[in-house]
Amino acid sequence: MHSKEQISHDEYQKTADWLMSQTKHRPQVAIICGSGLGMLADTLKCQDSFAYSDIPGFPQSTATCMRPHDVFGPSTPRKPSRALAETTFPVRVFKLLGVETLIVTNAAGSLADGLQPGDIMIIKDHVNFPGLVGLNPLCGPNDDKFGPRFPAMSGCYDKGLRSIAMEITKQLGVASLVQEGVYAMVGGPNFESIAEARLLHRLGVDAVGMSTAPEVVVATHCGLRVFGLSLITNKVVKSYEDSDSVNHEGVLEVGRLRSHTVQQLVTELISRMEINNNNTNNAV
Ligand code: HPA
Repeated sequence: MHSKEQISHDEYQKTADWLMSQTKHRPQVAIICGSGLGMLADTLKCQDSFAYSDIPGFPQSTATCMRPHDVFGPSTPRKPSRALAETTFPVRVFKLLGVETLIVTNAAGSLADGLQPGDIMIIKDHVNFPGLVGLNPLCGPNDDKFGPRFPAMSGCYDKGLRSIAMEITKQLGVASLVQEGVYAMVGGPNFESIAEARLLHRLGVDAVGMSTAPEVVVATHCGLRVFGLSLITNKVVKSYEDSDSVNHEGVLEVGRLRSHTVQQLVTELISRMEINNNNTNNAV
């Protein structure tokens, strides 16, 4: 565990070297799973797995496992005091391992009227509220070996992968459950007040959660291609007449109910990437 905010290139490299010394696999795709979506691990034929606590420098979580094309790990628990650079530490390690694509999943509450609990939102763009007020993992001296001081975030959710994912949902017969939308990250850990929910809705946010944006910012900074999806676990209460309220157990339950569809979508997306990669290799 790191106690300081700034993490040196050597520290990321040390962790990547350790992982590469422990496995012969060289993953091309990394997956970060959100609340209740840890079952994505079941889709992977894990060939090597490591406890987070055994990986030098990794933030504490439960498990990670790898196979040739994937690194898998549940998203890191976010302590209020933890530096964002620690939360996003695995993303830079993925980069040094040779990963090219990061898949992020999260649980989110919907603000858009057309998004119901159990629906899947393919993330088209995000509003990184903590980032807008300076809580950004890229704060501090820039590490030029990873990327530029002022990286662009337009197009950070890869258009090609989004369109392949939409095609897959048609093929799986679940297109009616899936749409693209804008995700906003808020700091949490409380869910939104009604006034906050109304504000977010007016700002054009379709779904809100408490994770993902920092990892996507760091991934985009170092040139990883990103695909993200939100599993809609609840409708955010926007009306003073509405007596519903959200709770964490309900969020986890929807994750379990929709786990199979999320698994199918992610697995098919990865297999199409492999096909593309093979085509590229064949072409060369
Ligand atoms: N708000 C914020 N984060 C969330 C929600 C929500 O309604 N649901 C799941 N994560």
